[in-house]
Amino acid sequence: MTEEDTKDKDSQINRCVVEDICKPFIVSDDVYRQIRDVFLNEIKKGLCKYTNESASVKCYLTFVEKLPNGCERGKFLALDIGGTNFRILLINIDGGRDLKIEVANYELPESVMTGPGRDLFDFLAECLSAFIYKHELQKEELSLGFTFAFPLKKTDLNKGILVTWTKGFSCSGVVNHDVVDLFKEAINRRDDIHINNIVILNDTTGTLISCAWKYREAKISLIIGTGTNMSYLEKTKHIELFKGGVNASPTMIINCESGNFGSDGSLDFVRTPIDVTVDENSVNAGQQIYEKMISGMYLGEIVRLILLECVNAGAMLNGVQSEEIRTPMSLDVKHMSEIEAEESGNNSATRKIFEIMGYKRPSDEDCEHLRYICNVISTRSAHMAAATLATLVNRVGDPFVVIGVDGAVYRKYPNYPQRLRKKLKDLARPEYHFCLKLAEDGSGRGAALLAATVFSKKSSP
Ligand code: GLC
Repeated sequence: MTEEDTKDKDSQINRCVVEDICKPFIVSDDVYRQIRDVFLNEIKKGLCKYTNESASVKCYLTFVEKLPNGCERGKFLALDIGGTNFRILLINIDGGRDLKIEVANYELPESVMTGPGRDLFDFLAECLSAFIYKHELQKEELSLGFTFAFPLKKTDLNKGILVTWTKGFSCSGVVNHDVVDLFKEAINRRDDIHINNIVILNDTTGTLISCAWKYREAKISLIIGTGTNMSYLEKTKHIELFKGGVNASPTMIINCESGNFGSDGSLDFVRTPIDVTVDENSVNAGQQIYEKMISGMYLGEIVRLILLECVNAGAMLNGVQSEEIRTPMSLDVKHMSEIEAEESGNNSATRKIFEIMGYKRPSDEDCEHLRYICNVISTRSAHMAAATLATLVNRVGDPFVVIGVDGAVYRKYPNYPQRLRKKLKDLARPEYHFCLKLAEDGSGRGAALLAATVFSKKSSP
């Protein structure tokens, strides 16, 4: 055997080892169908008054019974928080088909995400005050839609009790409290701004509302960003916890909190030992199991752990562990996007990411392997998202439904929307057609539109 032949053979063996390590993440359509069907059971458990208490997919009531109908008018504020960035929007609805929007973006310091809740709400109120002064709105009677992208137990449109933190937040003194009350207290502490009315909602609910404003067939929304979740329009007769009375409208948006799917073991048939490790190392072990398999906050960590296994097996990077590869959460989903955006053969971006991971001279083969791993993990994410989305398409049961989608993974990850769409087509019933619409800024716009549907009369001139 020549030296060249030995190299080829080693190469083939390495590829086999990498593929072998990735195999548990490559899932057949039968398994995706099983996920779709198990998720339907979980939705039913969440909606049923006898099983809601123990359900992992809680199907929270949103009290959003009316979708915007285009008659809303006026100026409304929205505050949208759900990750390290948050946004304040001023939306002017004047009857045209486009909203006039002023937006300000803010970054939430890490210390605020994990410190006392009072600091978080003071920070939000301070930014809101600066925004109001900048736009000279001090004298206006404004209503505000507050998007709070965490699990909320609602008893009305203007009350939302935080059930638990997700996505790395852990501010003290907020869980089990009404978030609107905490925010109002912070506004009152300042005494320099006045907000008339506040409605509170989840980001998926906002996305659905904003999509429904444009398309009357919109009945489902999905966020696939730092976290993941879905909302959909359910018939109130199936929402057993809703005591609507005779005047209740026939439908209400349900906030599934689908990120928590699997926390009762119902996804164990598809979880891999690496998924278990990702969960065990997280700040909220045992919760948000589905979210930890598919959302942006965790995808890089799954890839890092696979890479580490490949290194340990001697199939990549000469079997050498770098300090960075041993460090949890050191690989970001943004890196994965860059790697997958690169044509095979041109490895310059991939090499840069290897360098961030502590490897100065990766081989072309290492680069190809890493691209393969990223592809397997992002594809599993898109397909798992499609599986639960198929459940909702089938449940809504309309011949044609519009699905509003937002979140950085969907927006920015190469080919993610295509992969999701294709698998959704395979998994939804063929008689139900659908269209996925990117609802950029949907959660903020939806918050303002909800405030508009509720307070339009009071606030319009
Ligand atoms: C997390 C939150 C959920 C939110 C989702 C997307 O899963 O718990 O409320 O909708 O992230 O931001």
